[in-house]
Amino acid sequence: MAVTILAIESSCDDTSAAIVQDGFLLSNIIASQEVHVSYGGVVPELASRAHQANIVPVADQAIKRAGVSINEINAVAFTRGPGLLGSLLVGTSFAKGFALALNVPLIDVNHLHAHALSHFIKKKGEDTRIPSFPLLCLLVSGGHTKIIVLKSHLEMEVIGNTIDDAAGEAFDKCGKIMGMAYPAGPEIDRLAASGYKHAFRFAKPSVSDLDFSFSGLKTSFLYFLRDKLEDDPAFIDKNRADLCASLQHTVVSILIAKLAKAALLTGIKEIGIAGGVSANSGLRKAAQTEAANRRWNLYLPPLSFTTDNAAMIGVAGYYKYLKGEFASQEVTPLARF
Ligand code: KG4
Ligand code: ZN
Repeated sequence: MAVTILAIESSCDDTSAAIVQDGFLLSNIIASQEVHVSYGGVVPELASRAHQANIVPVADQAIKRAGVSINEINAVAFTRGPGLLGSLLVGTSFAKGFALALNVPLIDVNHLHAHALSHFIKKKGEDTRIPSFPLLCLLVSGGHTKIIVLKSHLEMEVIGNTIDDAAGEAFDKCGKIMGMAYPAGPEIDRLAASGYKHAFRFAKPSVSDLDFSFSGLKTSFLYFLRDKLEDDPAFIDKNRADLCASLQHTVVSILIAKLAKAALLTGIKEIGIAGGVSANSGLRKAAQTEAANRRWNLYLPPLSFTTDNAAMIGVAGYYKYLKGEFASQEVTPLARF
């Protein structure tokens, strides 16, 4: 009998539902929330309200698009955390209600583990390159910057972490300083393409081991612009592409240097990059260059699986289902894991 999982993701500002059957993705629906754009960041209360409005139609579409009937669903997987508590509560409550109504097991998924498993999303009829274990994964998003060793589908160890801001946060906060809407990462990426990456130099932190720090870069960027704007109020407009290219180059260099260090220390050559920032074209290019020089087998998720999605939750749920790792109806969301 086929194993059919309904997966739900609601950790931040994307409401997503997916159907994964026997490890293959049948559908993945994402409703992104536009409501935060003008606030310069995700507003938690608005995010949970939008999840409440989106969750039923998104799950309904995922089931219809997959062409499965509700009675075929064997388990409901959901993101337990980390994330915004109010957002997580919506997905968790929906998953509990659905599982209870169908009398099927619940599967709680760690969002970070799922991002690392985004390299294992397969579709029927597509020849996807799947990593072997152990996989060294750089996870870079708006909320996280971590280096993870995925030892098997279900075992992961975090070996590097940011001590302050995440890489995506650095993009978003510096973008906000330049007057860009949230999230600024994609816009910086687009503008960087026509800029000169060595035009300006910003502070690179010195952090020990495999850890990261991005708050110093944000401050350095802020003070640099404050000084320049005193001399020329139009400085940002005149130098936007060069600012974006230089900022992106700085973030990418920090990330790639630590990833290379981690690869050297662990001896792992199966390397993946995941999370929202893995959509960044500068990071993807730099990783490809590094992979060619260091003989890595590099895995970059398709752009649709870089940002938050339920497909990766479904994959994690599928492997937990095979091991019988279920959650009880008493399970509560966790803002931090
Ligand atoms: O994984 P994600 O969707 O949500 C979190 O779990 O945080 O990541 C969102 C982050 C935002 O900070 C956004 O600016 C960044 O990913 N991002 C990018 C790009 N696309 C998304 N940053 C740089 N370049 C991009 N192309
Ligand atoms: Zn995420």
